Amino acid sequence: MTDRPVPAALRWLAALVALCVAAAAISGAVLYAQNLEQIRTHANAITGGDWKRGKTALRRYGCGGCHVIPRLAGANGQVGPDLTGISSRATLAGKLPNGPAAMRLWLMHPQHIDPGTGMPEQGIDEATARDISAYLYAH
Ligand code: HEC
Repeated sequence: MTDRPVPAALRWLAALVALCVAAAAISGAVLYAQNLEQIRTHANAITGGDWKRGKTALRRYGCGGCHVIPRLAGANGQVGPDLTGISSRATLAGKLPNGPAAMRLWLMHPQHIDPGTGMPEQGIDEATARDISAYLYAH
């Protein structure tokens, strides 16, 4: 069997298909990035914090030693609940209706809200609690 040359029209078609796939992928990525940006801006607004500073604080306090935290390298602890998508959770620690104020309170004083809970008091101040909340609600 001999190799027949691919007709030019077919090559153009293949190129066109490849171009469409690439365009779809790029617009998908752009939409994804825009959506992510909106979610982050919203999270900053409702918490009065800054999700980027929150990320640094999550590392500093070693939260990932006890929790799985999305997009935080090495945060794969199994002591406490997975914090992925925490914004859609109804309650925090099964005690408080979930919301920015409750999240702040929980992060600052888990032992006051649920004495004896496995989550320690870490002396987190309000500004840091706002930043951490922003990160958690943005992911
Ligand atoms: C020593 C382990 C430990 C550390 C460190 C820790 N936590 Fe927790 N955390 C827990 C446990 C255990 C719970 C579950 C408490 C409960 O339900 O009573 C919890 C609960 C939570 C919840 C509520 C989750 C839910 O699904 O209701 C949030 C939010 C949270 N932790 C965030 C953090 C953040 C942010 C840090 C770092 C500042 C942190 N935790 C540090 C153990 C820990």
